[in-house]
Amino acid sequence: MVGFMGAGKSTIGREVASRLGRPFLDVDDEVERAEGPIWEIFAKQGESAFRELEARFVRDACSRREPSVIAVGGGAIETRHLLDELDVFTIHLDVDVDVAWARVSGSRRPLAQDEAEFRERYARRQPLYEEVADGTARDADGVVLAAGGVTVSAMPPDLVPGPGQAELVADERVLELHQPPVDARTLKVPAGEEAKTVATAERLWRQLRLDRSGTLVAFGGGCTTDVAGFVAATYLRGIDWVAAPTTLVGQVDAAIGGKTAINLTEGKNLVGAFHWPVRTVIDPQLMKTLPDEQRHEGMAEVVKTGLLAGEPLWELPDDELVRRCAAFKTAVCLRDPHDRGPRQVLNLGHTFAHALEAAAEYETVSHGRAVALGLLAALRLSGHPTDLVEEILAPEPVRVDRDRAWQALERDKKSTGGELRLVLLGDDGGFTTSLPGSDVRRALDELIAD
Ligand SMILES: NC(=O)c1ccc[n+]([C@@H]2O[C@H](COP(=O)([O-])OP(=O)(O)OC[C@H]3O[C@@H](n4cnc5c(N)ncnc54)[C@H](O)[C@@H]3O)[C@@H](O)[C@H]2O)c1
Repeated sequence: MVGFMGAGKSTIGREVASRLGRPFLDVDDEVERAEGPIWEIFAKQGESAFRELEARFVRDACSRREPSVIAVGGGAIETRHLLDELDVFTIHLDVDVDVAWARVSGSRRPLAQDEAEFRERYARRQPLYEEVADGTARDADGVVLAAGGVTVSAMPPDLVPGPGQAELVADERVLELHQPPVDARTLKVPAGEEAKTVATAERLWRQLRLDRSGTLVAFGGGCTTDVAGFVAATYLRGIDWVAAPTTLVGQVDAAIGGKTAINLTEGKNLVGAFHWPVRTVIDPQLMKTLPDEQRHEGMAEVVKTGLLAGEPLWELPDDELVRRCAAFKTAVCLRDPHDRGPRQVLNLGHTFAHALEAAAEYETVSHGRAVALGLLAALRLSGHPTDLVEEILAPEPVRVDRDRAWQALERDKKSTGGELRLVLLGDDGGFTTSLPGSDVRRALDELIAD
């Protein structure tokens, strides 16, 4: 992370590192630990001697084998050729000059003693940070999103990176409502789960004309991004793809984290691949045309995310709601890209939801309603109040066969000694634990109407 002094690189860097489960290194701190206070080095040896020293520490920090979050001092930009040379992912942590001055004036920082000089230096350095950075952010969520290739904004004219050709895979209903995000040959897919079939994937494999340098752009809800991402993962053994999600489920969940899938008659999402999009552009304005019931589907994931994050994210206006939820999921997925551990917290409530959906043969119970009920069960088992979920999602018990639902749940989460592994909610977010089957069965039964 680069940025002007006072941008908050140390504080935000530490937070980002903790969210990504990676070590944090502050180059200024490292220099001070080894060589003494920076103001003293400036005073005794001058700025250029300090820059040389700093360059050595930046090189050391960026050469670590372990992926790390590293904050480099505001002035390290003077040695920016080094950052290019080191091939690190660089994010500019941007800050307004007034905020920066308010934060650092009165400190011993050698370059924050004179306000006019400070402002002049800020104006000179801003373009340098932009030049060297792969992304720009103003807070920890922004840094995480940039690291995951996710942007929350209107569709940019240059949506597809690189010089290769692009083709668009789009939900046919969405194309009736919105301008396509790129001017490219378009392959339509049906709305809903009908898009996630082997037949649709095969048609797309056959119709695509891209070569290996091409990029597939997916435009639609979770069904479209799932099938298009899977086709991109497999066509010519894998080409780049860009996700442009248009539903709340897509914007806060499905288009993030690199999971792609199609369904088989034997079950949902049984065939797929991990294939992270090169870019995900989330435009919350696209949701203006979303029917209420589709929005409600997505709210179940928003509430789940808020519970895991420990913040009432569901209360935020759309732009911020989507940005915060997307950042939460991006951080968890960057931490565990192949779903081998930490990412399992995202399944809060989903074990129950899958069981209810399976018992209803994926017909009478929508995923959102099933997740809302699943959250009730998970909160009850966690000893947390459920009034919030009841207020926002108002889940009604479903009419499904109790034994079928239980069998589906047991099949899904079998474990040793009659215990079942589930995600529950603790004081610091979600965690995985084993519970006696009888407790889990009771919680499931409470979700089912007589
Ligand atoms: N890959 C993942 O990590 C992941 C995560 C969560 C869900 N999913 C998958 O996502 C799918 C559900 O996604 P979904 O809920 O977005 O469903 P969807 O893609 O079927 O979209 C729902 C409906 O909304 C319509 N629609 C889409 N955008 C619209 C807009 N802007 N205005 C009006 N109508 C619009 C669609 O035509 C469709 O009829 C499931 O198949 C699920 O398995 C995947």
